[in-house]
Order: sequence, then C-alpha cells, then structure tokens
Amino acid sequence: MSEIKLEPPKKLFIKTYGCQMNVYDSERMAESLEGYVQTDRADDADMILLNTCHIREKAAEKVYSELGRLKPLKELNPDLKIGVTGCVAQAEGAEIMRRQPAVDLVVGPQSYHRLPQMEARVRKGLTALDTDFPEEDKFEHLKGRKKMQRAPAAFLTVQEGCDKFCAFCVVPYTRGAEVSRPADKIIREAQELVERGVREVTLLGQNVNAYHGGMTLAELIRALGRVDGLERIRYTTSHPNDMDDDLIAAHADTPKLMPYLHLPVQSGSDRILKRMNRSHTAESYLRLIERIRAVRPDIMMSGDFIVGFPEETEADFQATMDLVAQVNYGYAYSFKYSTRPGTPASERPQVDPVEADERLQRLQALISRQQYAIQESMVGRDLSVLVEKAGRNAGQMLGKSEYLHSVHIDNATAQIGDVVRVRCTRAMTNSLTAVEI
Ligand code: 5AD
Ligand code: SF4
Repeated sequence: MSEIKLEPPKKLFIKTYGCQMNVYDSERMAESLEGYVQTDRADDADMILLNTCHIREKAAEKVYSELGRLKPLKELNPDLKIGVTGCVAQAEGAEIMRRQPAVDLVVGPQSYHRLPQMEARVRKGLTALDTDFPEEDKFEHLKGRKKMQRAPAAFLTVQEGCDKFCAFCVVPYTRGAEVSRPADKIIREAQELVERGVREVTLLGQNVNAYHGGMTLAELIRALGRVDGLERIRYTTSHPNDMDDDLIAAHADTPKLMPYLHLPVQSGSDRILKRMNRSHTAESYLRLIERIRAVRPDIMMSGDFIVGFPEETEADFQATMDLVAQVNYGYAYSFKYSTRPGTPASERPQVDPVEADERLQRLQALISRQQYAIQESMVGRDLSVLVEKAGRNAGQMLGKSEYLHSVHIDNATAQIGDVVRVRCTRAMTNSLTAVEI
C-alpha cells in the first residue's frame, strides 16, 4: 500500500462584526472551507476573513482600520490571504481592494456558497470578487452542518433580506430582497443541531416574522416545538407590521417559545416614523404590545431606537422617551442616526450632532434605569436557565434565563446543556445570580 501524504490543514481566522446573522454566516463559511481548521489568532492564520457590518458608518470604518493593521502580517506569511465578506463587501465591492490592495477576496452575503471556488482562485495568486445576487439559493448550495459538538444555544437563519426600505437603512441594499428558506430544510437543520448538543435555537431573519417558506413563522415555530430534544425557541428581528394574530397566539400555545420579543420601533414620534417610512404609528405599536401582553403577560420586551434622525425635534425626541416609559423594556438598543450613502434619509436636513449625542445619553440613561429595575424585580423569583458554560468562580455555571438574562448559578450541580430551575438571589448591572431549587 502506498503511503498517502496528507497536507497539514491551513488555518482560518474569522472576525465577525455586527449582527447575529453574521455570526451564523461565519460559522457556515468556516464549515464550507475544506482543508482549514479555525484559529483564534490572526497572526497564526493562512486565511483571514473579516465578516463585516455596514449598518452604521463607524462599523464600516472599523473594517478599513483593521485591514491596515492586518496588512503587515502578509510580509511575515507570504501564503496569507485576506478576504472581506458581509455587508461592507456587498456595499463597497472592488473599492475595498482599491483602498486596501492587501485584500485578495471580496464576497457579499448572497454568494457565500461560491467561497470555496474563490478560495482556490486566490491560492493561485489571483484576486476574487463576487457581489452578485445570484439566481441560485445559497443555502441550497452551502454544505450541510459539520458534525461537531456545539454549544447548547445556536443561531439558525430562516429568512434573509428586507423589503421594508426604512429611510435610514442599508439592509435592503446589502442583503437584498426578502427570501425565506424552505421549512423542511430548517427543521432538518434544527434536528442536526440537536444531535450535536444544541438545546435552543434562535431563528434569524432581518424581518423574521415576514417568514413565508411554505409555512408562516408561527407554524414553523410550532413544528420546531415538536422536534425532540429541542427545548427552547427564540426569533429575531421582527417588524411590528408582520406581528400577526397567529404569531401572537404562538406565544401562548407553544411552551418552547421563550417569553422574549425583540420588536424595534425606532422612534416614538409619528412625524418621524412617517419620515422613516415605518408604516406604523407609536399608538399602533403600543396597542400591539398590549395584545401580546394579554396572552403572555410576562413577555420581556426589547427594542431598537434611533435618535437624531433628520429633522427630529426636541418634541419628537420626547415622544420617544414617553414611549420607552410606557413600554418598560427589559432590553433596548439605541443608536445615534448615522448617514448611510444611497438611503433616502441621507438627503434630508441633518440634526446637530452635539444635540443628537445629548439625546442619546438621555435615552440611554432612561433605558438603563428601566433595565436595572426589571433585573431587580427578578430577585426572589424562580427562573429556568439553560446552562451554557462554566462561570468565572469555582462551582459557578453561567446560562440564560427564559427572559434572556445572563444568570450565574452558584454551587451548581447542573451541567452544560441542562435546563434547570433556579431562584434569583441578586441582580447586577448586566446579569443575575441564582441558586438551584
Ligand atoms: N443609523 C443608526 N442606526 C441604524 N440602524 C439601522 N440603520 C441605522 C442608521 N443609519 C439601527 C436600527 C436597527 C438596528 C439594527 O440598527 O435601530 O433596528
Ligand atoms: Fe432595515 Fe427597516 Fe428592513 Fe429593519 S425593517 S432591516 S430597519 S429596512
């Protein structure tokens, strides 16, 4: 028998920016590149991929600074290839290679299934660029999930792209039109994940509740609820206009669906919502939350806000503060408006940046007070926690409650992957402490 000489695997380093969908995409890209093992050190890698975010200006600029820092590594390792993926790749395309010639490969989110061929091309010393929105379904052409042990909580993309065209947002341009994956493929992927140790999936989509892959999102959630061994289901991000009655009902009739809902509203001012092209009002949003709380009173609400949107006045901003006070969010993410090239809002009169900063601070202070009060109200309450990893202190385990709080369990007997009942003993700024009951 002749001896087969195996090449040692090359090393792949992926740095992921931005949203959870990028986290999912990074995992799928790593799985699709044969002959590579992942490393957590850029200076050790033969291939570096920056999986980028274009949602705000700062996020995009970070990529160019990082590329500048990575460039000298090419002198140390002539085999090193550098790639840019994600929404900056989609939005800027060849401009990236022009601004930073150390980049060998640029691929947008709709073409990740072509990454292996692109990798082969750059290994020959050529460059590779692909920012198409191809006809073929990238998920069909991405390989099945690798058979490796996984953390107990995983992301699962079910829908991608957005047709809403909010006036500030680049997503409809970078991720393209809404596309839903077929439900049977998603259910199979969830089963594969469960076989590898996953207990919780978060269904991802830029507009996840607009899902229509042969089923509605509510129907998909109920179908996933029947997958043995899958104990928890979440979904994000939703649009208020796609929150239909059946999805609200699923929060009452599907025990595996966790009582947490990320439902961005962006502003509390109808004048601004109209200019944002949101096609809902502050009032309709508040009524919607009332309907959800009527069937699931303990639901933990989460949201996104933009302050300093073009032409936002102090009165508009106050309306946002009022809405936040009325909803009582467990979590809320607030951003200063960032002008994105090509979006309609970029043409409108901009708010003074100092004023916008000041509003952001006021909103964040209100949100922090609200979040902390909710965390404190958990003390003495019983929660269920999915244990995800060992905590920092001896005997401590760390996991997530049904409401998505990080929970440290003291003197834990539970193992990674267990869902345990605990009693909350203390609230800290970003987490809770608990004991098993
Ligand atoms: N400027 C600031 N924030 C933005 N977001 C989207 N586009 C912009 C922008 N141009 C925020 C929205 C969205 C979240 C993901 O990012 O709040 O819900
Ligand atoms: Fe962007 Fe609006 Fe679509 Fe969300 S709904 S991805 S904010 S355009």
